[in-house]
Amino acid sequence: MAQSVFDFGMIGLGVMGRNLLLNMADHGFSVIGFDKDSTKTGALESAATAGTTVKGVAELATMVQLLERPRKLMMLVPAGQPVDDVIESLIPLLEKGDVVIDGGNSHYTDTLRRVKYLREKGIHFMGIGVSGGEKGARTGPSIMPGGDKEAYEKVKPMLEAISAKVNGEPCVAYLGREGAGHYVKMVHNGIEYSIMQLISEAYALLKQAGLDNDQLHKVFKTWNEGDLQSFLIEITADIFLQKDDKTSARLLDVISDKAGSKGTGKWTSQDAMELPVAVPVIDTAVALRTISAYKDERVQAAALYKSPAAQLNTPVDTWIQQVHDALHFGIIISYAQGLAMLHQASKELQMEIPLPEAVKVWRGGCIIRSTLLEVYTQAYKAAPELPNILLDKNIAALVESAITNTRTVVAQAAQTGTAAAGIMSALAYFDAYRTERMPTNLVQAQRDYFGAHTYQRIDVPGSFHTVWGE
Ligand code: 6PG
Repeated sequence: MAQSVFDFGMIGLGVMGRNLLLNMADHGFSVIGFDKDSTKTGALESAATAGTTVKGVAELATMVQLLERPRKLMMLVPAGQPVDDVIESLIPLLEKGDVVIDGGNSHYTDTLRRVKYLREKGIHFMGIGVSGGEKGARTGPSIMPGGDKEAYEKVKPMLEAISAKVNGEPCVAYLGREGAGHYVKMVHNGIEYSIMQLISEAYALLKQAGLDNDQLHKVFKTWNEGDLQSFLIEITADIFLQKDDKTSARLLDVISDKAGSKGTGKWTSQDAMELPVAVPVIDTAVALRTISAYKDERVQAAALYKSPAAQLNTPVDTWIQQVHDALHFGIIISYAQGLAMLHQASKELQMEIPLPEAVKVWRGGCIIRSTLLEVYTQAYKAAPELPNILLDKNIAALVESAITNTRTVVAQAAQTGTAAAGIMSALAYFDAYRTERMPTNLVQAQRDYFGAHTYQRIDVPGSFHTVWGE
């Protein structure tokens, strides 16, 4: 065939697929994309940088034929059945040794199933988490690949070229066996939910002190120049300034408070329960999005229940600092819970997730990127098998410096009736985690009392049962 041969193919030319492919082209790879929708293939070609090799086609078979062997192709289609449908239509077109990547937010158990299914046919299937949204996809996302190591080596140069870079290091690394890439991305999203919830609570707590959108912008902008520096704080600062083009209001003030979700946060909570590992701030973030949907009930409840009479009477500057510390604390705890989940999953699910690499990959390009990840990178360098980041001395120092103000904020929120479940949950988790002897000896006694479930003693090994109350 006289036609040119392409280095990489993309199935699904939505915003993410198109931008990732254009990013590859910008790095010198010749790329081809397939989408049944001709407006999307057209949009791909017209957005290409001059001098790059980019082609859009409306036939899957045409794209597959034009790929260099072994073929390397990615699909970016909605999670679930669409991924299976694409796989089925690809199978007759592929040859042994080809590499198929699912770059969407698939559940890792689906990825495991697909890896096995395609392995039987001699085809490498990889689940890869991609984070960074539309802009990140084009200019440098964070990429979380897992699965077949041999297949990873084939696509590594491309992924390294297109990924975000931090200190010259690419934000992509092999993150473990089988479904590990999608698992790491799922936990990334759980942490994303958690940090977003905490930021929304900080917003509510600052509004309580009378800050308007301009002042909120300034506070978040300043925070983004300090130890809270992160993508989510940065965009939050911008959001306060955005004007609504339909009214003279700020856009934020006319956005409904019902939050949407596509399911990855819920999966993180569900899979954490399965392991089990405790991620209560993530659970809380998922629950709060659910409560946000109860709009009609909340309106009724707001009329039924009065707010407490207590008012915030802390000087504004002091309050801003206290909320800053509570947010910083909550964010540290969010990462700690997500990373503890990865540590546990790595062992329990035999995924062999290298935590030091996962944290490095998150330092740039992704939604949860922050300067804190640099501290975590150092912590894992010193102790790669750390079960919980809270056991690191440098993290402990950060926690200690924020804890007093966190307690003040939680107490104030309780007194004034401000919903701050994420921050409260982070504090409750921390207080339980740092408790040498929890009151769960009583739970054990109760279990044995009514159900003869037995208990262990602190002085003699073995299991014991008592006939209680006699
Ligand atoms: C990312 C994001 C991305 C997406 C979330 C949104 O890393 O780029 O996590 O994957 O924005 O899936 O999830 P919800 O719609 O559930 O909030």
